[in-house]
Amino acid sequence: MTEKLHWDPELIQRYNRSGPRYTSYPTAVEFKVVESDQVEKDLLSQRDPQVPLSLYLHIPFCAHVCYYCGCNKIVTKDRSKSEPYLELLKTEIDRKAELLEGHPIVEQMHWGGGTPTFLSDEQMVDLMDYLRSKFNFSSADSADYSIEIDPRELRPNTLKLLRELGFNRTSFGVQDLNEKVQQAVNRIQPESMIRQVMVEARELGFRSINIDLIYGLPHQSQQTFAQTLDVIIDMSPDRLSVFNYAHLPERFKPQRRIKEEDLPSPEEKLAILGNCITTLTEVGYHYVGMDHFAKTDDELSRAQGNKVLHRNFQGYTTHGDCDLIGFGVSSISQISDRYLQNSPDIKVYEEAITNNTLPVVKLIETDTDDLIRRQVIMELLCHDQMIFSELDQEFEINSRTYFSEELAKLSPMVEDALLTIDANGIHITEKGRLLVRNACMVFDTYLNANIIQSYSASADASTPANRPRFSKAI
Ligand SMILES: C[S@@+](CC[C@H](N)C(=O)[O-])C[C@H]1O[C@@H](n2cnc3c(N)ncnc32)[C@H](O)[C@@H]1O
Ligand code: SF4
Repeated sequence: MTEKLHWDPELIQRYNRSGPRYTSYPTAVEFKVVESDQVEKDLLSQRDPQVPLSLYLHIPFCAHVCYYCGCNKIVTKDRSKSEPYLELLKTEIDRKAELLEGHPIVEQMHWGGGTPTFLSDEQMVDLMDYLRSKFNFSSADSADYSIEIDPRELRPNTLKLLRELGFNRTSFGVQDLNEKVQQAVNRIQPESMIRQVMVEARELGFRSINIDLIYGLPHQSQQTFAQTLDVIIDMSPDRLSVFNYAHLPERFKPQRRIKEEDLPSPEEKLAILGNCITTLTEVGYHYVGMDHFAKTDDELSRAQGNKVLHRNFQGYTTHGDCDLIGFGVSSISQISDRYLQNSPDIKVYEEAITNNTLPVVKLIETDTDDLIRRQVIMELLCHDQMIFSELDQEFEINSRTYFSEELAKLSPMVEDALLTIDANGIHITEKGRLLVRNACMVFDTYLNANIIQSYSASADASTPANRPRFSKAI
């Protein structure tokens, strides 16, 4: 059965405003500067050892710059730069592992970047051996060990090696297959190369293979993107991430090399997305939410159907019960209810490790109100509904009274038939699924406080720091 997502350009335009992607609540912009690493040490040593772990390792290096890129990366042709970074990373791994009580099970691991395969095969073996000497990796079938791969950065045996090291999932960065688009973003990647790595990954037994695409890139049109999508569908990835190009040239220097006049108009961009959603759902992909599509038999789709899907810094996941421990520059950890972030600056990161401290620079403590709101936002994003009685039971509140103001603020969305509110709870309709982020934003107290502040602080409103910090939904 094919899924029909309601596509209404007028409605989408009307609701299309900047907003967070809610991989956390409170979102990363609310994290506060910390002066000492003691709080992270306490959190690591006092956490419940029964809670399984999800590890995230950030490898920031890329050999080439893609002009659109908004990731935390270091572009260099000098391969020797990875060696001292690996030494720092191992020291951080060692320091954090030592603080953990018991032998917690690792159920999930993700290597992201930058480009993790910038590391040589020997370095990847060494890093994985080191991790295995410090952590207890689950061998259960449900364990997910994934890596982001730039198909241009693979040696002939690298995929095979990664399987041998225990990786069982992968995500390939593709973005677009059109030559003119690829030239404009400085990422030349022939279709044959992607086909080859897809076939090889599948033969090696990688599961849930994902492909990243971006819409809104220079020279893209409905026609060119439809061609890209046809080829990608033919390659049959299990999952697809179709990201909205976030063009923030004041923040990301390489984006200044993209000419504004080459970008598709907002109308064309919207049409590209509309066609993309129609095509993907017609050929049997399920829209999980927030740019993510998966085959209906993929674990993500099944978890959503069974109401056990979670969302965290790694996006949608089936391992939401884990404490997330990040390693490397800019990585984020989530230990019980708290979020912590490592320095995004390689020099600060290096200095902290060399000075025998943890490289944490930001933290957010959460109170009960944050946790209640987090639950609402995550339920809406993962399961398109929020059931009052579940919230009442978990937090001993009367959620209808607790959220009386927010429920009233949802009235325009009710009138537009994007959601319904009944005695059981809030239910996102088929028509509202693409706009669920707007409902979440109503429950975000920080966002609402910032909006009020920026109206009153009009003298500051034009400085770059006060321009919108989030990209638009579509
Ligand atoms: C760390 S990169 C992926 C791994 C690898 N470096 C690669 O490029 O193949 C993560 C993904 O972020 C997405 N991305 C990067 N910059 C973006 C931007 N400005 N707007 C939207 N998506 C972006 C791309 O789809 C990219 O594949
Ligand atoms: S998209 Fe990937 S390869 Fe390109 S610059 Fe960003 S992190 Fe590096």
